[in-house]
Amino acid sequence: MKQEIMKHLPGNFPWQVHWYNDLPSTNDLLKEMGKAGAPHGTVVIADSQSKGRGRLGRSFLSPAGNGIYLSVLLRPRCKAYALMHLTCAVAVAMCDAVEQVCAFRPGAKWINDLVSGSKKLGGILTEMSLAGDGDVAFCVIGIGINCKKSPVPPELEAIVLSLEEATGKEIDRFALIGAMLTALLEMEQGLFTNKAAIMERYRQDCVTLRKTVSILGGEAPVTATALDVDADGALLVRYPDGREEFLSSGEISVRGMYGYQ
Ligand code: BTN
Repeated sequence: MKQEIMKHLPGNFPWQVHWYNDLPSTNDLLKEMGKAGAPHGTVVIADSQSKGRGRLGRSFLSPAGNGIYLSVLLRPRCKAYALMHLTCAVAVAMCDAVEQVCAFRPGAKWINDLVSGSKKLGGILTEMSLAGDGDVAFCVIGIGINCKKSPVPPELEAIVLSLEEATGKEIDRFALIGAMLTALLEMEQGLFTNKAAIMERYRQDCVTLRKTVSILGGEAPVTATALDVDADGALLVRYPDGREEFLSSGEISVRGMYGYQ
């Protein structure tokens, strides 16, 4: 499997790729590897995960042979606040990779989901480990993408979609993994120098903007209109009483009023 992936990467690709048939979670393994000193650019990919995780403690279904479950460890030399836009940058890179291989560009639902129409194709889970002084020791970027249709619990039928369903074409998972890693490398190289352009591209991909959304995470859902995404990935919303607020992604998520998006 690893050889199949390497065929889609340049010979001088600088990151080290590890393939596993089955893992609890690629993010969990890579965090352990990070603590043990794994270098910048360590990549873990699994054919299936038994405990795939998403944001806010949600699970991410990861059946064998059907999706891409991939995590990358980076060691940027910066404070945690300098990485606030990382998830947005990864989302743009993943839209680029999917577009390159599938001739179809997903949307980004704020802040970390890849979508087609009102359904979820995949998601991004970025996790950070800090050194004592507030510097980032390492971060782990986890990406899950549904490539083929899988059986899902009835409550997820209306929400989950695969790339094959979205495009009507068979997806070459290994070609897509190659494009994802190439896009992530490029993203990482411009993460700080190209921040404004990356965030402008995120705004263009972000399907949440100009929509009425339901904000989840407090005691009860709150309705607002999504207006903008700022330079650090916070979502600017306007409440029905005219008040405006920047929401950071830490504790909340948004849903469209008529379904998932
Ligand atoms: C989300 O939907 O909120 C994010 C989903 C992220 C899933 C990926 S799959 C690879 C990596 N390992 C995990 O346990 N989660 C991420």
